[in-house]
Amino acid sequence: MIDPVGTLGDQGWLISASWLLVALGVGLLLVWSLRRFGRSSGSTRPDAAAVTGGLVALALGLAGVSFAAAGAVPFLGNTRPAAAQPASAPLPQTDGQVRQFQLTVGRTHWELAPGKVVDAYAYNGQVPGPELRVIEGDTVRVTVKNELSEPTTVHWHGVDVPVAMDGVPDTSGPPIAPGGTFTYEFVATPAGTRWYHAHFDELNQQGGGLTGALVIEPRDQPSTKPDREYTLLTGEWVTAAGNQALAVPTPSATGGMAGMGGGMMGNGGGMSSASARPLFDTFTVNGKAYPSAAPLVVSQGERVRLRLINASATDTQVFALAGHRLTVTHSDGNPLAKPVDVDAVPLGVGERADVEFVADNPGRWKLEALMPALSDQGQMVDLTDIVYEGHQGDAARDFPADARLRIASYADFSGPPHPAAPDRTYELTLSGGMMMMGMGSDAWTINGRSYPDTPPIDVKVGQRIRLRLFNMSMEDHPMHLHGHTFQLVAVNGRSVDGPLKDTITLRHMEQYDIEFVADNPGTWLFHCHNLVHMMGGLMTQVRYS
Ligand code: C2O
Ligand code: CU
Repeated sequence: MIDPVGTLGDQGWLISASWLLVALGVGLLLVWSLRRFGRSSGSTRPDAAAVTGGLVALALGLAGVSFAAAGAVPFLGNTRPAAAQPASAPLPQTDGQVRQFQLTVGRTHWELAPGKVVDAYAYNGQVPGPELRVIEGDTVRVTVKNELSEPTTVHWHGVDVPVAMDGVPDTSGPPIAPGGTFTYEFVATPAGTRWYHAHFDELNQQGGGLTGALVIEPRDQPSTKPDREYTLLTGEWVTAAGNQALAVPTPSATGGMAGMGGGMMGNGGGMSSASARPLFDTFTVNGKAYPSAAPLVVSQGERVRLRLINASATDTQVFALAGHRLTVTHSDGNPLAKPVDVDAVPLGVGERADVEFVADNPGRWKLEALMPALSDQGQMVDLTDIVYEGHQGDAARDFPADARLRIASYADFSGPPHPAAPDRTYELTLSGGMMMMGMGSDAWTINGRSYPDTPPIDVKVGQRIRLRLFNMSMEDHPMHLHGHTFQLVAVNGRSVDGPLKDTITLRHMEQYDIEFVADNPGTWLFHCHNLVHMMGGLMTQVRYS
């Protein structure tokens, strides 16, 4: 199956083993088909079909994970290149240990399914990259070697890193030049399901495979640990045009520097073609399209956790497992005040959910995702199968045709109580696409302007900042804040003690208020994680003064 490339030296086999396990894991998970997502009535319903994300990476199961972690440890011998390490503030105190990893960024021909090979970007020769697993408070040191003929960076999505480690060209420092090396170092916090991805020429690099799971285990393990877990990280690909995939243009086609202009500045003249929505036709979890992913094995009676990560390029995905209810325990890796039982969980791009189910319905079941944007009715995509031990030979079962599924909504999720009043409020109206008459459908805006002309969010250390977000466009906007965790504090004007998150998906005409404390000085991005929208200008900066 996979053939990880070996910049890892002796550790290559470990990583391979861990990927095998991962792939195994992934396969298992799949089930369901939500035929009837009931296009319910109108837009008053908060999240239903909207969030789409992708589950991709469930794969790693405990075993895979520990192998990956083990694989990481051995880089002790790795000497840290002196060159690219910028001076940065001293790291916070930690009682954790130093965990070292190495990621080599390159290109590979990646087999999504038999006969479907794409020209992809890869970390350590694999798509997605290896799952990195650490413990809260550990110092994480990741040496990234860029073997591309273009620059790249790594962003640690959902981790409160110092700004110099955030992987954003310009605001974090220069990107890693072709042939160059950079060592990212940060303390692993907060605990939970995080992920990493390229933050340079995003649609091509991140969309083309430069993604991976980062799991930060809580230092104090709850006694309620599940019996087994898998990480599923999604991806979406264009294969129809004979593998001119989504992205993956040759370096010469982008002039090598498209990343700076395209990735960060959006909207530049040359970007219009890249801004058109790619026609994705193949959807993966952990790099494999159904039914190529090995099924996720479970034993009857077990409580199983799935870490769902929508690492796709543009699409909200609604995840569901035939034959089982899902208990949502974490949103974007952060624990909910109360777990919530649902049939399906929507995730916009960049969002994560930890869900648990009890394996009490033996057989082989599909894990599926409804993708609302693919057609009027939305389209069901099979991701992988969950297979009970002893049922390997069963046919995969789906939801009944008339199933009515309860889909999670943000209003179901609760977090800690929040203080009454923010110090400062910004109102941000998100628009673009078809709403932008005369501006071309690939311009996306905040308060009528595209990045870098969008209004910045100016903050002072210690302030509590409220962002009132309203989506007046027709498409979903999964809005992600770098370097901070925020809390959902109002849903369509109604005050709530909502979940702690780093990415929140607004459907058409939805309004959410979020608040964060300005406690991590620097200049940070706040942007839509739909990579087409992001590159089309739906982005601004949080600036400390
Ligand atoms: Cu997940 Cu600005 O990124
Ligand atoms: Cu968007």
